[in-house]
Amino acid sequence: MSKGGSKKVNKVSSSAGETQRFGACLASELIPGSLVCLFGGLGTGKTTLIKGVARRLVGIDPRQVVSPTFTYLSSYRGKIVLHHFDLYRLRDHEDFLERGFDEYFDCEGVCCVEWAEKIEPILPANALKVRIKHLGQNRRELSVEYEESPI
Ligand SMILES: Nc1ncnc2c1ncn2[C@@H]1O[C@H](COP(=O)(O)OP(=O)(O)OP(=O)(O)O)[C@@H](O)[C@H]1O
Ligand SMILES: [Mg+2]
Repeated sequence: MSKGGSKKVNKVSSSAGETQRFGACLASELIPGSLVCLFGGLGTGKTTLIKGVARRLVGIDPRQVVSPTFTYLSSYRGKIVLHHFDLYRLRDHEDFLERGFDEYFDCEGVCCVEWAEKIEPILPANALKVRIKHLGQNRRELSVEYEESPI
């Protein structure tokens, strides 16, 4: 347990499938309005984890989930709407606000944000933070941090 009532969960994943299953487990904790922020460098497994979230939360085939690199945002509609951001090419948080993307954080759907580093100064307090670290060929450390109060 760390400061301010926040909690941390750590796990080492040994395969892409395991990271996807972790995303599916995480999805069962999410409610309308939840925000999942993913941190970690190129190819660490952010999209892979979101595939698992989308499968469980929206009920779609994970193969439909790819990084929306040129559009910043893809939305998947099913039982619930999942807004998938990839901010790799975004300038900074001001760019994000100018595009009105912050409005998605107040919507009924769930948001997953890759490259959340880009908007760190404006992340809401309820954001669930997932950090992925490359440990080796197929090994990744997944670390989830969230406030104890509602997600
Ligand atoms: N344990 C693991 N967890 C997640 N991905 C893994 C793991 N082991 C190997 N991989 C592979 O690493 C790659 C991760 O790619 P993915 O697109 O999910 O990363 P990303 O963080 O979204 O990258 P980008 O920053 O380019 O968007 C995939 O090819 C996946 O198969
Ligand atoms: Mg990606």
